[in-house]
Amino acid sequence: MDGAGTPAKATNLVLLGPPGAGKGTQARRLEERFGLVQLSTGDLLRAAVAQGTQAGLAARAVMERGDLVSDEIVIAILRDRMACDDCRAGVIFDGFPRTAAQAEALDALLAEAGGAITAAISLVVDDAAMVERVSGRFTCAGCGEGYHDRFKQPSATGICDNCGSDAFTRRPDDNAETVAQRLRAYHAQTAPLIAHYDAKGVLTGVDAMAPIDAVSESLTAIVDPATA
Ligand code: AP5
Repeated sequence: MDGAGTPAKATNLVLLGPPGAGKGTQARRLEERFGLVQLSTGDLLRAAVAQGTQAGLAARAVMERGDLVSDEIVIAILRDRMACDDCRAGVIFDGFPRTAAQAEALDALLAEAGGAITAAISLVVDDAAMVERVSGRFTCAGCGEGYHDRFKQPSATGICDNCGSDAFTRRPDDNAETVAQRLRAYHAQTAPLIAHYDAKGVLTGVDAMAPIDAVSESLTAIVDPATA
């Protein structure tokens, strides 16, 4: 509630950028700092694949090829997750929307709840550097904290800084061939959404070739006033 006793408006952020741009890395930091929920459709789809649900069975081969999963499947998964109570305070959309149909569905879902996108942030990177970023990535199996062979090693070798686990995983779609296809899919189907959010007056571009901490500072400067 704000000072006048009316419910405060939720802060809803969209992170746009190609594979490796840093959407997941930055979404986790924004989640901690601003108390928002990171909602990654990639993570939701990987969970569906691991659980062997009908959606997961349909998505698996598509993800391994580096193509986009159908709007129907992704929007249904997202709608279910957004219905959870923890999303009411605000959401960081990481990897969603990725098509014009998904952007329209998101606008409609938020409007149903009296909300809207507060800020859409485009992480601007050089494609050529993304293959190294993605293929060097590994993730803590315990808590999901992200690391990189070159750019972000745990402080103690083989031990997660965040939870102390010594188990790490690598994604099956993090190979050079699949990353190239994921980049093609991004430019063909997702990059046009930059104009969609620009037309709504909520778009900001951030240099995401900068070091991780510098990118976080830029994002905080955008989100801070939006949550005030
Ligand atoms: P998804 O899981 O969303 O993958 P992605 O978009 O390809 O993005 P990534 O997770 O690879 O990259 P990121 O931007 O999060 O980078 P990260 O922070 O990890 O989607 C996977 C698949 O699921 C898709 O191909 C598709 O099939 C399907 N899918 C998902 N959503 C969908 C949707 N809405 N519609 C249809 N299909 C969908 O960083 C990468 C590495 O770089 C890390 O190691 C990190 O430490 C490092 N790093 C990050 N920032 C920096 C920096 N500034 N400097 C140096 N290193 C950095």
